[in-house]
Amino acid sequence: SNYLDPKSPTWGNALQSALKSGYSQEYSENIMALMPDWLSENIGKTKRVIKAEKNLDDALDGKLDDPERSRVIIEKPFGTDLQSANYLQSVVAGYLREKQVYRIDHYLGKDTVNNILATRFSNILLEPLWNRNFIEEIQIFATETIGCEGRAQYYDTAGAVRDMLQNHMLQVLALIAMEPPCRNDAKEIRREKVKVLAATRLGDNVVLGQYDGYKSEEGVKPDSQTPTFVAGELYVDNWRWKGVPFYFMTGKKMPVGCVEVVIKFKAPPQQLFEGHECNDRIVMRLQPDPHLDMRIDIKSPGLNDMGEPALL
Ligand code: BG6
Repeated sequence: SNYLDPKSPTWGNALQSALKSGYSQEYSENIMALMPDWLSENIGKTKRVIKAEKNLDDALDGKLDDPERSRVIIEKPFGTDLQSANYLQSVVAGYLREKQVYRIDHYLGKDTVNNILATRFSNILLEPLWNRNFIEEIQIFATETIGCEGRAQYYDTAGAVRDMLQNHMLQVLALIAMEPPCRNDAKEIRREKVKVLAATRLGDNVVLGQYDGYKSEEGVKPDSQTPTFVAGELYVDNWRWKGVPFYFMTGKKMPVGCVEVVIKFKAPPQQLFEGHECNDRIVMRLQPDPHLDMRIDIKSPGLNDMGEPALL
């Protein structure tokens, strides 16, 4: 809602008044929000545009030139494929120092997502089991009941793969699958994530879908092929995860909205109790109603040798 259209002749005035009144006093001098399509085409020209806009230049008072006082936050879409993303990165790097640039994935601001690292690495209980010897499969779901809610102009160019899979879900996968970082800081965590993502590949099974009624929503092309649903399998080809499928699913207008990671364990080598379902799992519910469940088999109460599932 704070986007300003730089193509508008009154952009300078609009920005100035946004700077003066739209944001908190503390940050207002530095904040400028631009539409994504404009940014991807023109980021290299941003400084020049600002220089040409006398009002803006006064308003910003040269702050964009000062790496200590200015930051640029970039949200998706960051290009549309590897080539355009590389190009955009080269332009960004030509104008800004790396420490000025934040590439935002809002899932990383969720406490429950950050808790994946704490759960794994602040306890000794899980980590010895966290590998291909004990884990059969991992499922990552991010379903939503909402549709694209008036964002068709963006969403129809992106779809479920670019909107949710390549960013939010891969970030969750990276936190689940990465090796422990040697320090809890951004650089070391990034280093481990890059390694795990470099080892990740798409499996053969992928399903795309589109919800009924999507094509008739305002802003959507009537013959749109944009997927609003994607499910499939990913593999992480390294010593820890070789052969373990990471099943993913994300979609809009689904019956249930839920972001969850399920770790399904292998069956024990021998069955001593009848009725054992070999269904041991850990469920990390990221939203809504965040919780972590451990589902294991216990003995049924009474004079029997039956097992039954229990939730811890
Ligand atoms: C955004 C996507 O990044 O994440 C939206 O563009 C999606 O389409 C949203 O609805 C989901 O975020 P959250 O925090 O509601 O899970």
